[in-house]
Amino acid sequence: MADINSAFAAIEKTGFLDIDIDPSIDLFAEIEILKKEKNAIILAHYYQEPDIQDVADYIGDSLGLAQYAEKTEADIIVFAGVHFMAETAKILNPSKKVLLPDLNAGCSLSDSAPPPLFKLFKEKHPGHKVITYINCSAGIKALSDIICTSSNAQKIVESLSADQPIIFAPDKNLGAYINKQTGRNMVLWNGACMVHEIFSLEKITKLKIRHPKAKVIAHPECEEAVLNVADYIGSTTGLLKFTKQDSASTFIVATETGILHQMQKASPDKTFIPAPPDNSCACNDCPHMKLNTLEKLYLCLKYEAPEILMDEELRLAAKKPIDEMLRISALYGL
Ligand code: 13P
Ligand code: SF4
Repeated sequence: MADINSAFAAIEKTGFLDIDIDPSIDLFAEIEILKKEKNAIILAHYYQEPDIQDVADYIGDSLGLAQYAEKTEADIIVFAGVHFMAETAKILNPSKKVLLPDLNAGCSLSDSAPPPLFKLFKEKHPGHKVITYINCSAGIKALSDIICTSSNAQKIVESLSADQPIIFAPDKNLGAYINKQTGRNMVLWNGACMVHEIFSLEKITKLKIRHPKAKVIAHPECEEAVLNVADYIGSTTGLLKFTKQDSASTFIVATETGILHQMQKASPDKTFIPAPPDNSCACNDCPHMKLNTLEKLYLCLKYEAPEILMDEELRLAAKKPIDEMLRISALYGL
């Protein structure tokens, strides 16, 4: 068992606080006490494990989480999500302490766009505005004109005049989907989400034969072939809302499995089937999102580490396109 000082010193290597927890502790109760004591809130993405969703003060998609983080009056934000999400919260809240239970919680989309390469790509396309999906690093945000998420991407793109050339990064699938929806011809960066590219069209088609009344719902990070068979396409919040409002009783869900927890809670009588991946692994669980655990979250809140820290110049440059996204989203009531 590591003592507290050496556990702190090791964060740089481990990415999280590795301290043994007394197994008799009721983590749910302790987390509630710590939240009150410290005026802290827990923000969780829908892809987090159910236990984490159950202790969160707010659960949402990337847009909802950024909007909530911008408004909160808490002193500490524990971000149960991946690094770019916690970083976005810090960009919007420089004076607050933003904590991430495991700093290793990255994102394959974010990793697909290293800032130096993206800078070169931008230089090859002069006169283009850069719209970037929020799943990217602060370095990429600083090179962007407007940030978007899956719930506002179409409106953000349409906020620019039809003849404005646009670079869309880093998700080629979301970019292609928005090109199709808007009739634009945005230049796409070649990035993708490892989770949303894994779904098997063949297995989804077989599932549909077995459940003829089931509706297929898909996140726009999925490949075009999967989107083509979807009855509804939307962000995680959009997907959840659809399952609450639609009359179907069975849904085949093509996104990360964490969202099923809220779907099942909201509609206990409906059936939710995770869309099957291309092989037999549980690849539609995001390995990055799932690095956060209730234990790591408890330690992170108790000892206030690991913390997201940022260079101020980078923060200010990355904030501008996020502010622009929030401004446009508010205009459309998103
Ligand atoms: P949304 O939160 O916009 O639905 O995106 C899902 C996702 O992949 C987050 O990493
Ligand atoms: Fe990134 Fe995909 Fe995981 Fe979302 S689900 S955090 S886009 S790897």
